[in-house]
Amino acid sequence: MNHRKTVWITGASSGLGLHTAMAFRDDGWQVVAGARSFGSHPDAIEGVTCLPLDVTSEDSIRAFCEQAAAVAPPDALVQCAGMLVLGSCEETETEEFRRVMDTNYLGMVRMNRAVLPLMRRNGGGKIVLFSSINGLLGIPFQSAYTASKHAIEGYAECLSMEVKPFGIQVMLVEPGDHRSGSDKYRPHAAAMSSSSPYAAAYESATARIHHDESTGSDPDILGRKIAKTLDRKRIPFRKRIASPDQHAAVWIHRFLGARVNSAILRKYYIK
Ligand SMILES: NC(=O)c1ccc[n+]([C@@H]2O[C@H](COP(=O)([O-])OP(=O)(O)OC[C@H]3O[C@@H](n4cnc5c(N)ncnc54)[C@H](OP(=O)(O)O)[C@@H]3O)[C@@H](O)[C@H]2O)c1
Repeated sequence: MNHRKTVWITGASSGLGLHTAMAFRDDGWQVVAGARSFGSHPDAIEGVTCLPLDVTSEDSIRAFCEQAAAVAPPDALVQCAGMLVLGSCEETETEEFRRVMDTNYLGMVRMNRAVLPLMRRNGGGKIVLFSSINGLLGIPFQSAYTASKHAIEGYAECLSMEVKPFGIQVMLVEPGDHRSGSDKYRPHAAAMSSSSPYAAAYESATARIHHDESTGSDPDILGRKIAKTLDRKRIPFRKRIASPDQHAAVWIHRFLGARVNSAILRKYYIK
C-alpha cells in the first residue's frame, strides 16, 4: 500500500515550478508535474510523473486530472504556471493583458475548480498558489503581470474562507526575484520599440528587472522551503520568500503608502 503523500504541480518544466517539484521528490513525495512541454518530454524530471498540461484549456486540465488521479489523488496542489508580458500600460495590447490573465489567474481558477471536488472527497488537502511580491505592489512596465498577481491575492482570500470547512488549506507564495526563470516566458509587448515615447524609461526598467532576476535568490532554497512547509499540519496563509530589501519594499508600501513607495521604486527602476 502506498503511504507516500502526493503533490500535483503545474508549470513544473522550468524555473521555480521545476525546483519545487524536485524538492518535493527529494523529500519523498510522489510528484505529478504538469506543463505544456511535457507533451514531448514525458521523462523531463527524473523520479517525477510528467504529464502534458495547458492551464488555459479546460480539456487539457480534464485530461491531466484523469491521468494524474490514476497515479494518486492529490494531497497537495501547487500552482506555479505563469508568464508575463513586459510593456507600458499604453502600448500593451488588450490581447496581451488577456493572455497573462488567462494563464496566471484564470489558469489557477480552472485548476482549482477541477481539483477541489477530489480534495473534498478525500476529506482535505493543501492548495499553494504562486503569487509574487508583485501581488502586493506594482513596478513599472509589468502591469499585466502585476494585475494578474493582485487578482490571485484577492481570489485566494475568498477561496481559503470557503474551503476551510472541508479541511482544505490555502497558501499564497510570494517570491521576490529568483534565478532560473526562462526569458521565453517574459516577452516584450509587440508594440514596444525604440520609437516608443517610453523607450528610455522602458530600457532602464527592463535592464533592472533582468539584472535583479538573474542575480536573484536560489530557486532550490525556495523549493525546499515550500516542501518543508507542506509537511506541517497547519500551513500559513502567506509565505513570502524574498530578500531583505524586497521585504522592506512591502513594508514601505503598506505602512508609508503607495505614493512614497512609487517615488522610491520609480527612482530605482527608471534612471
Ligand atoms: N522567478 C522569479 O523571480 C519569480 C518571482 C515571483 C514569482 N514568480 C512566479 O513563480 C512561477 C514560476 O515562474 P519562474 O519565473 O520561476 O518560471 P518560468 O521559467 O517563467 O516558467 C514558467 C512555467 O510556467 C509554465 N506555463 C506557462 N504557461 C503555461 C500554460 N498555459 N499551461 C501550463 N503551464 C504553463 C511553463 O511551462 P510550459 O511552457 O512547458 O507549459 C513553465 O514551466 C510563476 O507563477 C511566477 O509568476 C517567479
